Amino acid sequence: MEQIKNVKGTHDIFGEENNAYESVESLMKSIAEMYAYNGVRPPVLEYNSVFVRGVGEGSDIVRKEMYTFPDKGDRLLTLRPEFTAGIMRLVVQNKLYATSELPIKLYYLGPVFRYERPQLGRYRQFNQFGVESIGNNSPINDVEVIALAYTILVSLGLENVTIKINTLGDEASRENYRKALREYFKDHIENMCEDCKSRYELNPLRILDCKVPEDRPIIDKAPLIGDYLSEPSKIRFEQVQDALSTLQIPYEIDEGLVRGLDYYSETVFEFHYTSKAGVDYGAIGAGGHYGKLMLELGGPELPGVGFSFGIERIVSVLKDDGLLEDIKPSLDAYIMPLGDESLLVGEEIAVLLRNSGGYRVDICFDKTKLGNMFKRATNKNAKFAVIIGEEEIKNDSVIVKNLATQEQLSVKIDDLIEKFDELFSEEETQE
Ligand code: HAM
Repeated sequence: MEQIKNVKGTHDIFGEENNAYESVESLMKSIAEMYAYNGVRPPVLEYNSVFVRGVGEGSDIVRKEMYTFPDKGDRLLTLRPEFTAGIMRLVVQNKLYATSELPIKLYYLGPVFRYERPQLGRYRQFNQFGVESIGNNSPINDVEVIALAYTILVSLGLENVTIKINTLGDEASRENYRKALREYFKDHIENMCEDCKSRYELNPLRILDCKVPEDRPIIDKAPLIGDYLSEPSKIRFEQVQDALSTLQIPYEIDEGLVRGLDYYSETVFEFHYTSKAGVDYGAIGAGGHYGKLMLELGGPELPGVGFSFGIERIVSVLKDDGLLEDIKPSLDAYIMPLGDESLLVGEEIAVLLRNSGGYRVDICFDKTKLGNMFKRATNKNAKFAVIIGEEEIKNDSVIVKNLATQEQLSVKIDDLIEKFDELFSEEETQE
């Protein structure tokens, strides 16, 4: 029978690659928790209006990239193309904002869907990790969010990240800017692409996202938001820059950075990375401040700020730059039963070490040569081998071998947890 393949733009994640995803995601979660964020899991399916209102009718995402369909009850549903609007719907519906202390700090992780042209680092189903800090308008809060993202990237080993920042100003600044853009594009729009023509009507700011090469020379000469900022927005952006400098977070101002989603106001930012081999993955993450999103979704007017990382792009750059080894999960012990009888004893020991000792343990189930087992232990990044042969079974003992130093010793099964605790605390002091 003909084989069925995966859907275009999706990808299977398994084996080593899955390990990389797990490690990257658990590091992201643990750093978000360090910054006092709590996890949330909004549904993948939302009513279409969440994104039409949230991300904006003029955005490429809403106009061209959403998986939207009527369900059997003729309700228009959308597979989330991003998290932020759905998170805000969750916060409004569950009144999470009715709390004694704002901001509410939430992190999330999961698949998102965009009908884009698949290419390097661009999928139709991909994974995002991100955070939203909702209910505080301080520029320092914007900077805390950038600091969190930067800490994650540095902890992953990605030190040469370029942080691009800009401001879109407040409502008044953007209104002035939209007027200026309409004025500027008035004489050009007839000769520009069909998309730009409708962007001109819906939101001229979105013309700046156009990628049609023939339109770019005109767009590149368009006015910049910086010249239309209100006084409070100018001051706010200076405060953001001062705080970034105080926290020693390197950044570049990119006056052309406007982001492709309509909900942004004031601070916007993107994290760019070019691998050592010179492959430019574009933005591995991005985010910004939003003033009116909660209002758009029927809640009170509380601002927020957040970012999302593209996990696929981050795993790719880590792979390209040989940084995955450093975050590869390791085993504390690999159990090597020699002969038929020792398999059950080995399993007992594996369960003991896992359940009573909290150690990460795997066991070799098939009959293979000892040399092979050692190779497997090395591949699994195991710290210790636990060898069980006939002699050991007779003596109720096992051989514990340190795979780094090759030192080995015989340990009674009854003393095994105690011995492991001792060996691991020695390891920690040496590190
Ligand atoms: P975004 O810039 O649309 O922002 O997406 C964030 C990140 O997702 C991008 O920087 C990129 O790494 C990754 N990404 C986007 N499209 C694709 C794709 N087709 N394939 C693979 N990776 C992709 C947002 O989604 C906002 N919700 C960010 C945010 C959070 N703003 C405030 N809070």
